[in-house]
Amino acid sequence: MYRSHTCGELKATHTNTEVTLSGWVQGVRDKGFMVYVDLRDRYGITQLYFDEEQTAAAILERAQKLGREFVIQVKGKVQERASKNPNIPTGEVEVLVTELTVLNSSIVPPFTIEDKTDGGDDLRMKYRYLDIRRNPVKESLIFRHKVAQAVRNYLSNQDFIEVETPYLIKSTPEGARDFVVPSRMNEGQFYALPQSPQTFKQLLMVGGMDKYFQIVKCFRDEDLRADRQPEFTQIDCEMAFVEQEDILNTFEGLTRHLLKEINGVEVDKFPRMLYDDAMRLYGNDKPDIRFGMEFGELNAVAQHKDFNVFNSAELVVGIAVPGGNAYTRKEIDKLIDWVKRPQVGALGMVYCRCNDDGTFKSSVDKFYDQNDLEKWAEVTGAKAGDLICVLSGETNKVRAQLSALRMELAERLGLRKPDEFAPLWVMDFPLLEWDEDTERYHAMHHPFTSPKPGQLELLDTKPGEVKANAYDLVLNGNEIGGGSIRIHDKSTQAIMLKLLGFSEEEARAQFGFLMNAFEYGAPPHGGIAFGLDRLVAILGGQETIRDFIAFPKNNSGRDVMIDAPAPIDDEQLTELSLKLNLKS
Ligand code: AMO
Repeated sequence: MYRSHTCGELKATHTNTEVTLSGWVQGVRDKGFMVYVDLRDRYGITQLYFDEEQTAAAILERAQKLGREFVIQVKGKVQERASKNPNIPTGEVEVLVTELTVLNSSIVPPFTIEDKTDGGDDLRMKYRYLDIRRNPVKESLIFRHKVAQAVRNYLSNQDFIEVETPYLIKSTPEGARDFVVPSRMNEGQFYALPQSPQTFKQLLMVGGMDKYFQIVKCFRDEDLRADRQPEFTQIDCEMAFVEQEDILNTFEGLTRHLLKEINGVEVDKFPRMLYDDAMRLYGNDKPDIRFGMEFGELNAVAQHKDFNVFNSAELVVGIAVPGGNAYTRKEIDKLIDWVKRPQVGALGMVYCRCNDDGTFKSSVDKFYDQNDLEKWAEVTGAKAGDLICVLSGETNKVRAQLSALRMELAERLGLRKPDEFAPLWVMDFPLLEWDEDTERYHAMHHPFTSPKPGQLELLDTKPGEVKANAYDLVLNGNEIGGGSIRIHDKSTQAIMLKLLGFSEEEARAQFGFLMNAFEYGAPPHGGIAFGLDRLVAILGGQETIRDFIAFPKNNSGRDVMIDAPAPIDDEQLTELSLKLNLKS
C-alpha cells in the first residue's frame, strides 16, 4: 500500500495515528539536527518531521539528501506541530517519520512548482506535466471536470443521451478550414476532422434519438486567439420536435444550473437582444452587458455642420466614459493613439469633456457650440464628469472600433468584474453574410440553419436581409454557445445550398447523405453547441482558455511539449501516397 491517507487530509484529530503517505518533495528545510520536508500530492501539503533524537540516523541522512520533486513514501506517526500554520488545512499537524523510501529521484525542475512560478509561458508549456503540479493549473483542470460532470448529470436527468460521433469524416463547412487526414487504404483521399458533429447530430434526429448531447472534441484550422484553440471541446446538443423557444428554455436551464452549482450564483431569466440591436448599441454580436456605455448614434446631431470628417461618414457614433473628464490631455492623447493602433484601425477620435458645471469642451469646438454638444451628451447618455469619445466612418468598421474601445475602457475602469455574471441571448442573426473576397454569400452560422418563418420568399430577392432562426448565448462578452433551428426538408436545403454557390452536383456530392436522410421523415429539429473551454474559463473568472486545457497548443498551433506538428518520414509519406502527389 503506497498510502493510507492523502497529503491533504491529516488534522489534529489524527494525532497519534500511524500513517503512510506518498508524494512529491515540495521543499526541504535542513536545520542540521532536525529536518522538515513538505510533501505534496494532488490533495495538499503535509509537513514531515525528522530529528536526531527520534529518527534513525540513516533516515535523517536520507531526508537531508532529498531534492525538490523527488517522489517518496513515508511511514510515521501524526503529531501536533510546535508552530501551527493556519493557512493550510493540514497546518496543525506533522508526521514524525520512521520510514522513508525514495520511489524516484528528480532532476532540478526548470521552474519553481509554486502558485506564482518563475517559469515563462513557453517553458511551462514545454514541461506542462510539471506545470500541472502547480495549484492554479491543477485547480483549473479539477474545475473543468466539475463543470463537465455537472453538464452530464443535468442533461442525463433531462433524458438527453450521449452519443459518440466519428472523428474521421468528410469535411463539413462551418466557416473554418479543415484539418485533413490522408487515408492509406484509399489512395489520394482524405478524411477531415470534424469542425463540429453538426450533420451527425442532425442524422441522429432523423434516427429518432430525440435528445442528444456529446462532450466532444472539434477541430478547426483557424488563427488562434486567447479564446480559440485548434482543437477544442463542445457540449454539442440537438433536440427533435422543438421550436426555438424550447431550445432557449432548455439551455438557459442548463446554464442557470451551472451558475448555481458551480458558482453559487442565481440569475434571473436571461435577457434577449436582437442581433441588429446588439450591433447598434454595442457594435458587437456578443456584448458584455455587465456595464452600460451603450453607443449613441450621432449622425442626426453631428452632421451637416462644417466638420467634413463627420459629414462624409456613414456613421458617427460615441460612448460616454464614466468619470472620463478626469483624464488629462496626455491620457486622452494616449487613448487616441490606442484607437489608431493597426489592431483597432481608427483614423482618429473626437472627444468632448462634460464639465462639472454643465459646460462642454470638445476637440472640435470650432464646429460645434454648447447646444450641439449638449445633444451629443443626451444621445450618448453622458453626465457631468464624463468624457464622450466619438468615432466615425464606415458603419461596420466604426462599430468594431468603438466596441474595442468600449471593452478596453471598461477593463481599465474595472467594470468587467469576473465574479459577476451577465448572460444574454442574441437572436435573429442574419442567415447570410456577404464575403467581399469571394464575392458571394456565406452562411453566417452554417448551411443547415433555417430562415425565420415567412422569410423564405426573401431568399431570392433580398438574401442579405433574411434573418435566421439562430441564436448565440453570450456570457460576459464572450460567445459561449451558438445554435439554430435547422432546415429539415430537402427542397429548402437545396435552395440554401444553391444560394451558397453549390452547383447541384456539388451539393449532392457534399451533402447528398443529409438530403437523402431528409427524404425519410426528418423531424423538425434544432440545437446548440457550447464551447466547453470558454464556458469553463468564464465560470472560473477568466477569458484565456489555455489554462483550462491540460495540453493546449501555443499561438502558432504547436504543441511544444511533444513538438507537433512534425515532418513524417519518407516511408510513411509513400505509404499514404503523399510523396508522389507532392512531387507531381
Ligand atoms: P459554433 O461554430 O458557433 O457552432 O461553435 C459553438 C461554440 O464553440 C466554441 N468555439 C470555440 N472554442 C474554442 N476554440 C475554438 N476555435 C472555437 N470555435 C468555436 C464557441 C462557440 O459558441 N455546429 C454548430 C452548433 C449548432 O448549430 O448547434 C457550431 O459548431 O463557444
